[in-house]
Amino acid sequence: MDTKVLHKISYGLYIVSSFDGQKLNGQIANTVFQVTSTPPRIAVCLNKENLTHSLVEKSGVLSISILEQDTPFKFIGLFGFRSGREIDKFAGLNYKTGKTGAPIVMDYALAYMEIKVTMKADADTHTLFIGTLEDARILKEGTPLTYDYYHRVLKGKAPKTAPTYIKE
Ligand SMILES: Cc1cc2nc3c(=O)[nH]c(=O)nc-3n(C[C@H](O)[C@H](O)[C@H](O)COP(=O)(O)O)c2cc1C
Repeated sequence: MDTKVLHKISYGLYIVSSFDGQKLNGQIANTVFQVTSTPPRIAVCLNKENLTHSLVEKSGVLSISILEQDTPFKFIGLFGFRSGREIDKFAGLNYKTGKTGAPIVMDYALAYMEIKVTMKADADTHTLFIGTLEDARILKEGTPLTYDYYHRVLKGKAPKTAPTYIKE
């Protein structure tokens, strides 16, 4: 078996955010995809160690900001390599509160979606959250950031908590 095949799967890059009444937090995720069209349902796969995972478990809602290709590496680092358990990622950030109550990151976002979780699949280290689309808005035109662009052009890596982590 050649596991390099897995590197050929295409993804985008997103910020998944949630809250627990007080704390707002978000994380980078590439594992976001549409599951059904009627009704529109979206899936997101989150590591159980992430603060965002516990906030989604508590609130049952999340937002997804679709990042633009020109998102600075530093911004991706803040959401993808740091935990909200140590820092306040939303301090000084441009965000708004969505229909569901979930915070929505507006910086470097081309569009956003809000999801109400209706199903979950336990995948040992991760949970696959599936939910219905509660709101969706385009913020500006532009090219979405892809996982491939992040690796190939920005020379970025994925941490151990990412479902697609590659041991080197
Ligand atoms: C390119 C990239 C892709 C990632 N994809 C995922 C993902 O799909 N699911 C996930 O749980 N973590 C993913 N991560 C890791 C989380 O963003 C990271 O563990 C984050 O620090 C968790 O933050 P939190 O503890 O504040 O929730 C990814 C990170 C990067 C840099």
